[in-house]
Amino acid sequence: SPCGPIIHGLEDVLVKTTAISDIDGRKGILWYRGYNINDLAKYSNFEETAYLIFNGRLPTRTELESFKSMLAKERDLPDEVVSTIRVLAPRAHPMHVLEAAVAGLAAFDPDINDNSPEANFRKAVRLTAKLPSIIAAHYRFSRKLDYIRPKESLAHSANFLYMMFGQEPDSTSAKAIDLYLVLHIDHEVPASTFATLVSISTWTDLYSAIVSGIATLKGPLHGGANEAAMKQYLEIGSPEKARPYVEKLLGEGKRLMGVGHRVYKAYDPRAKIYKELVRELSQSKGNMTYYNIASEVEAVVLEKLASKGLYPNIDFWSGIAMYLLGIPYEYYTPIFAMSRVVGWSAHAMEYLNQHRLFRPRACYVGPHDVPYVPIEKR
Ligand code: CMC
Repeated sequence: SPCGPIIHGLEDVLVKTTAISDIDGRKGILWYRGYNINDLAKYSNFEETAYLIFNGRLPTRTELESFKSMLAKERDLPDEVVSTIRVLAPRAHPMHVLEAAVAGLAAFDPDINDNSPEANFRKAVRLTAKLPSIIAAHYRFSRKLDYIRPKESLAHSANFLYMMFGQEPDSTSAKAIDLYLVLHIDHEVPASTFATLVSISTWTDLYSAIVSGIATLKGPLHGGANEAAMKQYLEIGSPEKARPYVEKLLGEGKRLMGVGHRVYKAYDPRAKIYKELVRELSQSKGNMTYYNIASEVEAVVLEKLASKGLYPNIDFWSGIAMYLLGIPYEYYTPIFAMSRVVGWSAHAMEYLNQHRLFRPRACYVGPHDVPYVPIEKR
């Protein structure tokens, strides 16, 4: 460009310091607050990991109980927001409804205009508690079913499935959602987190910043890839058709969904963990078809793309679990948002401490001083 180098996509540009999460893209390692994702996936759960992300350390038993009860008490939605979802659900994508409902919820938050760390923490807890209720309400209303009020006695993930399907889930299903939420809670600064940061850098409120995050997550290159990957497996149909399908797609220069990552040039550690869960869930549901199709696709990817640093990412496997739980595609990305709202909020709060308004420059390449011609002379 005439103005010097442009860093397209801000690739490798550092925009802040963070103590929330860290990625070793070469080795394929992810840490939350210094804890390896493998340990958290094995020993922790959504509520405890959310506490860790917000507070920087694991809770004591008392702290965890009090955090869980704070979340459980904040789950229900104001009637006005429930009505908004009811009106929009039959025709609007759940990600659009999530944007609208979060914006609507701002009107009911007593802390809305207070950007202090304490007020923002309270808002982050309310948002984390309420996002599942919005998504479940969309599911219910778009099927002409009634809104189910949350059950305080259930854990975050089990309550979400209960509000969606109207019955308490078995432990395997609840675990599938819970592990998904743990694995998605934060990931340094992908596009949606950056969008949240750009918003909060203007000193707007946390709700507005989260709406930016949701809007940005929606795209198929980001949160929408889980849905796209599952559609691929359905199109493939059976394991023996996987290899020719992938070879044809790559031959046409197209992209395989659920493969590749801007930061990971190794196997995504989240994908490794979730692959195992998908295998167990497939066995318990008595349907190995999609696990087997994905495994065949994976074999071709490892053979043909790994040398270019392209490996399966978390979305390669996660859509299969959602599918086996009976969750329709359009809810896969909203469930991602349900978890990432924690990371977005934590990054927004962290950024307010090292604040500088985001205001990059663009290199102008058009003309200057063009003479204005009156409309009748054009
Ligand atoms: N299938 C086939 N080839 C690919 C793929 C893919 N999924 N992804 C990248 N490539 C190729 C690309 O064509 C390019 O090849 P060449 O150098 O020959 O032109 C090379 O790899 C580098 O690609 P890039 O576009 O420069 O890489 P990027 O860092 O911009 O891409 C990505 C990252 C995630 C957008 C991309 O890998 C992609 O489109 N993947 C499919 C969508 C997907 O699974 N997204 C989920 C990401 S993980 C969860 C999340 O963050 O939300």
